[in-house]
Amino acid sequence: MKRAALLGILFLAVSFVACNSESGSATGASNSDSPYAAQVDSLLSIMTLEEKIGQMNQYNGFWNVTGPVPAGDEAANKKYEHLRKGWVGSMLNVRGVENVKAVQKIAVEESRLGIPLIIGFDAIHGYKTLSPIPLAESASWDMEAIRRSAEVSAAETAASGINWTFAPMVDIGRDPRWGRVMEGAGEDPYLGSLIAVARVKGFQGDDLSDPFTIAACTKHFAGYGFAEGGKDYNTADFGTSTLYNIVLPPFKATVDADVKTFMNSFNVLNGIPATGDRFLQREILKGRWDFQGFVVSDWGSIGEMVPHGYAEDGKHAAELAANAGSDMDMESYLYVEHLAELVRNGRVDEAYITDAARRILTVKYELGLFEDPYRYCDETREQETIGKAEHQEAVLDMAKKSIVLLKNENNLLPLKKSGQRIAVIGQFANDKNSPLGSWRIAADDNTAVTLLEGLAAYPDNSITYAEGATVTVGENSFVMETAINEDDKSGFAEARRVARAADVVIMNLGEVGWQSGEGRSRVNIDLPGVQQELLEAVYEVNPNIVLVLQNGRPLALPWADENIPAIVEAWQLGTQSGNAIAQVLYGDYNPSGKMPMTTPRDKGQIPIYYNHKNTGRPVIPAPNLVFWSHYMDESNAPLYPFGHGLSYTTFQYEGLAVNPNGDGTFKVSFTLTNTGAIKGKEVAQLYIQDVAASVTRPVRELKGFEMVELAPGASQEISFTLTDTELGFYDNDGEFVVEDGMYRVFIGGSSATEYSVDFTR
Ligand code: NOJ
Repeated sequence: MKRAALLGILFLAVSFVACNSESGSATGASNSDSPYAAQVDSLLSIMTLEEKIGQMNQYNGFWNVTGPVPAGDEAANKKYEHLRKGWVGSMLNVRGVENVKAVQKIAVEESRLGIPLIIGFDAIHGYKTLSPIPLAESASWDMEAIRRSAEVSAAETAASGINWTFAPMVDIGRDPRWGRVMEGAGEDPYLGSLIAVARVKGFQGDDLSDPFTIAACTKHFAGYGFAEGGKDYNTADFGTSTLYNIVLPPFKATVDADVKTFMNSFNVLNGIPATGDRFLQREILKGRWDFQGFVVSDWGSIGEMVPHGYAEDGKHAAELAANAGSDMDMESYLYVEHLAELVRNGRVDEAYITDAARRILTVKYELGLFEDPYRYCDETREQETIGKAEHQEAVLDMAKKSIVLLKNENNLLPLKKSGQRIAVIGQFANDKNSPLGSWRIAADDNTAVTLLEGLAAYPDNSITYAEGATVTVGENSFVMETAINEDDKSGFAEARRVARAADVVIMNLGEVGWQSGEGRSRVNIDLPGVQQELLEAVYEVNPNIVLVLQNGRPLALPWADENIPAIVEAWQLGTQSGNAIAQVLYGDYNPSGKMPMTTPRDKGQIPIYYNHKNTGRPVIPAPNLVFWSHYMDESNAPLYPFGHGLSYTTFQYEGLAVNPNGDGTFKVSFTLTNTGAIKGKEVAQLYIQDVAASVTRPVRELKGFEMVELAPGASQEISFTLTDTELGFYDNDGEFVVEDGMYRVFIGGSSATEYSVDFTR
């Protein structure tokens, strides 16, 4: 502390040498607009090459591991020594005020310059109090609730000594086999961009030096969501039009929202590992977009360029990554080992090192770490903040808004509040772990409210419970695979017995929390184990079933859709899961969620997404003619389209019109009416199609939406303005263009709406 204070005085005293000329030669170099430019440059001027490289070195902490540790590497054992030498700029997975203080103390009080560490952590959907998984939150289409959820996550994370989260993940995901779709915002770049910005604002707030806010990290740059076959870490292969129009927009949106850091990614794109991709990092991110923050590699991704077949060895990998614009090495230990020599041999320009260190130091200044390196280390705040009631309320609110009513035949839902005999069936109804998902490093085991616990708040119905099928038979753990019961049906008889005696059966089926997330891809996107058979066995004795799904990805369940009268998508909803589901089932919250990803009928349809291109043969020309774009054994249609979600009331859209405003923009207007019997919220969605363009455009693209709450019988006129931003697109050189010609506007409650009108620009 004393040392840091002394340094502060020293920095002010050292005259500012405009040393930008050194970094000026680097493509996409940081500029000196920052209010801390003078302090940072003064500090840089007294740092040795090794100390600057030290800022670029990040080590994992001493227990939680969120990736494979490089075997037999010397540097791993040198963390303490390197901390003392000032050769560590950041640590991840150190949490809790006491632990953070201990490492910070070494950096600040024992190293020559006393530069504080930035402490990173995967606070993905909360710290100890967990919100729904990000994909579920995205189903709310509610930007304020999502912002608030990130704010709560930031407050708890910051209270535990951490000042940097590795979120939001903004990768567009079109493949539900990929386990990490749970961590993103789904398949749409427009919705995804708004959500990404809401999350950045929630984490960073208005003032980064506020001890309740933390730096955000947009990840994974870029293309990680397109892992071939949905297999994690796999190669991505897509064209420039997809890169510019689908993959990059959410990343760009966060740069515009002043996100402080980026993480690059594991995948290869066009034969180049993203970590070593100069075009992505220097030309686009730091060049065209003028990003001033820093880029951290993903875990070990610099070293992984060797098995990718891009780097000959670790030293070569360090050279390629540094030259490409990866500013910080997470857990490859290659910068600290090789960069100094690479600079001395002329393989890496020192300007790149200075630029990377400048970026990292600037974020540390913005976090207020130079003013007080222990700013995030307050035991009292830690105790008062983590798990507090206000946070429980926020995650409950978020959880209710995340639920999607997929089907509700004959108004089976909402449930009557009294006089009902309810059978609850399924392991998840009594599972306090799975609702927490798999990104839950700091959350305590078994801390979610179960569905049974949530239902207990409605005591005027009788509840009988049967597990039916034990889905898991193995150990749940952060690193081990979960073993699934594939044949034990011994619980079926009891399940049928309780179902037979019930008025309504609630079946809570789905995926174990550990079945999605990083490294957790599946080839099947059905109900794991014997759950499908359980569902059918119970249906035989009582078809009056409400199926409550709990899962980390869209599941293809065509039998359920055809036979089960009510289906509720309840994802993994975090700490307050059971309370949220119960309140929705009983109608105390009228569901308003809309699917952020298309649900296939069959995994063979993957990739299936609403904003696809047309083919030259999109429609059936005549019965029995084979020559059109289709499957012989399954329809082209999804099970549930993007944007789908019902309410306990109904809505009608009418009066759609598009009129020019006279200034090059267009007004889209229509009337929305609540035609049902209760108050409800509808997410009215606007899609456009650029009917003929110089680069073909998708059959429709989301370009606006509004959440409207209406009393029964009430109507509201809604209007959107279409500007060049909505009508244009990126051409294959990455230039944004707006073309004249015919456009089609669609309005409705999902991407499958056919309510449209054409206009000409
Ligand atoms: C690897 C993951 O891909 C990344 O998203 C995460 O932030 C890091 N591990 C750190 O845990």
